[in-house]
Amino acid sequence: MAKLYFDGNMELIRNMVISIIGFGNQGSAQALNLRDGGFRVLIGNIEDEYAKRARDLGFTVYSIPEAVKLGNVIVMAIPDEVQPEVWVKDIQPNLSPGKIVIFLSGYNVFYGFIKPPRDVDVIMVAPRMIGEGVRENFLNNKGFPVLIGVSNDYSGKAWDYALAYSKAIGAIGRPGGVAVESSFEEETITDLFSEHTWAGAFLFLLAEGYNVLIENGVSPEAAMLELWASGELVAITKAIAEKGLFAQLRGHSTTSQYGHLTWGPHYVTDEVKRLMREAIRQIKNGEFAREWALEKMLGYPVFNRLWDEVMKSRAWQDEDRLYKLLGRRK
Ligand code: NAI
Repeated sequence: MAKLYFDGNMELIRNMVISIIGFGNQGSAQALNLRDGGFRVLIGNIEDEYAKRARDLGFTVYSIPEAVKLGNVIVMAIPDEVQPEVWVKDIQPNLSPGKIVIFLSGYNVFYGFIKPPRDVDVIMVAPRMIGEGVRENFLNNKGFPVLIGVSNDYSGKAWDYALAYSKAIGAIGRPGGVAVESSFEEETITDLFSEHTWAGAFLFLLAEGYNVLIENGVSPEAAMLELWASGELVAITKAIAEKGLFAQLRGHSTTSQYGHLTWGPHYVTDEVKRLMREAIRQIKNGEFAREWALEKMLGYPVFNRLWDEVMKSRAWQDEDRLYKLLGRRK
């Protein structure tokens, strides 16, 4: 079993300058939480709408090289696929011995796309929570799970810093919060595994379910509300997290329970089992990471084509109409 931590000593980083590089999903949420906790936070960002938002919220925004020079703690809150080039150009040249670099995912260090110098601490604090949740939980005095790891312990205190930062952003030291001792490798594998297996399959299964209901004379509105638009899924996933994957089924009608238990296993075919093992093989041997790096280098041709296909699908088109009617989309 992994080691779990529920608290940390934030005073270790209390007097340090924390430079958050990037003000997107995670960067903005963590910066706001840190500032509310009384920490010295500054933002390093390129001049774009994120920088503007940070300034509008009262943060001081520096260029990335300046922010790296000024910070004792450097938090990598920009997208994984752009980190390697930003690292080489703007981050590494401005690091000095003893700085603490925090990654929010294990991706670039595990795959060797970023090779930090030996004279800095290299820490991972990977939230198992989207940025909005990081902020919302903090405001509701609740914690959230993080996976923590250390790939270089220059100071000898890297694990303590990982816990200090986890506490400072509101992950631990609050109800529901936990830091799981992990590694850059484990975080990367588990994160990508979800994305490449059940999480992606889930979206496409719902879209296919929509097609089948429509073929069978169900109205687009009734089909979409049944499958995802009502928000019932939110209640189910909340119950899964709180009560357990199968334990939450007890809260459904017995007809529903019987349907889940008889039909659910049929979808886990030998082909699906093979695909899951193929997915993890391509994650572990770096095949997927190389494919994604190449895709970025070529200007995202496959990524853009797949998005086009999704946006042309019946489910997307009908959803657009319904969500506009419901005032969820402009
Ligand atoms: P994001 O996509 O929200 O990042 C936006 C920020 O990146 C902006 O400040 C933008 O100015 C900057 N940026 C974009 N392109 C840039 C470039 N070429 N050069 C310099 N800056 C650029 O990023 P997000 O989703 O917050 O992810 C950040 C890190 O957090 C990643 O390592 C990710 O794996 C990790 N993470 C993200 C989660 C999430 O909820 N999205 C959950 C857990 C971890």
